[in-house]
Amino acid sequence: MSFDRRIKIAPSILSADFANFGAECRAIEAQGCDWVHVDVMDGHFVPNLTFGPAMCAAIRPHIKGVMDVHLMIAPVDPYIEAFAAAGADVITAHLEAGPHIHRTLQAIRGTGRKAGLALNPGTGLDAVGHLLDLLDLVCIMTVNPGFGGQKFIASQVDKVRDLRAMIGDRPIHIEIDGGVTPETAPLVAAAGADVLVAGSAVFKGGSVDNPEPYGANIRAIRAAAEASLGRAFAAK
Ligand code: DX5
Ligand code: ZN
Repeated sequence: MSFDRRIKIAPSILSADFANFGAECRAIEAQGCDWVHVDVMDGHFVPNLTFGPAMCAAIRPHIKGVMDVHLMIAPVDPYIEAFAAAGADVITAHLEAGPHIHRTLQAIRGTGRKAGLALNPGTGLDAVGHLLDLLDLVCIMTVNPGFGGQKFIASQVDKVRDLRAMIGDRPIHIEIDGGVTPETAPLVAAAGADVLVAGSAVFKGGSVDNPEPYGANIRAIRAAAEASLGRAFAAK
């Protein structure tokens, strides 16, 4: 996985057809997505249940690019090896999921995978400064985690801007997760985000038998985000 700050669209398969994950992953990649975002929920850290490492291993052969695994589980540490073995490229754990996030990030890096840190909307950036050397990605949640299709929390945009300043030249991705649409993508892209997770806004209107809407949705989000960067650069 090479590092770059270009806008990357990462559809969340939480909004895909659960009976057809392999075909859905092939469809969104064929329609132009960059990463595939996989939301793992445990019914304990968040009030919803999805799937575990066996499902990740099952879909891995259907994903050519980056498999981005977002762990909304507590505890995290006992499962890191399993998600690495399942073929995750990025493993993201929540700061709020336990008292030993430093150890968790070390353990993720120890598997050879990229380490991500997710922050809930109510969590500040204070701890991030102490973790920068262990991070490949910071995920700013723009909804409270647990469900797709929620409303974007606009107060998080300032957090993204502050995080971008904190990261400086370090090769750390800023990912946005929740409520990303062509309307909200420009706000977070201009603030410094480069990975945009989108579930409902990518999968709406399409299916594996009619995948063209996926492509149109991905292009609309990307175009809106890139246009805001054009304006940001022009303003400098
Ligand atoms: C929320 C998940 C998100 C979610 C995004 O807990 O982490 O990835 O599926 O869905 P939308 O884009 O519909 O808000
Ligand atoms: Zn997610």
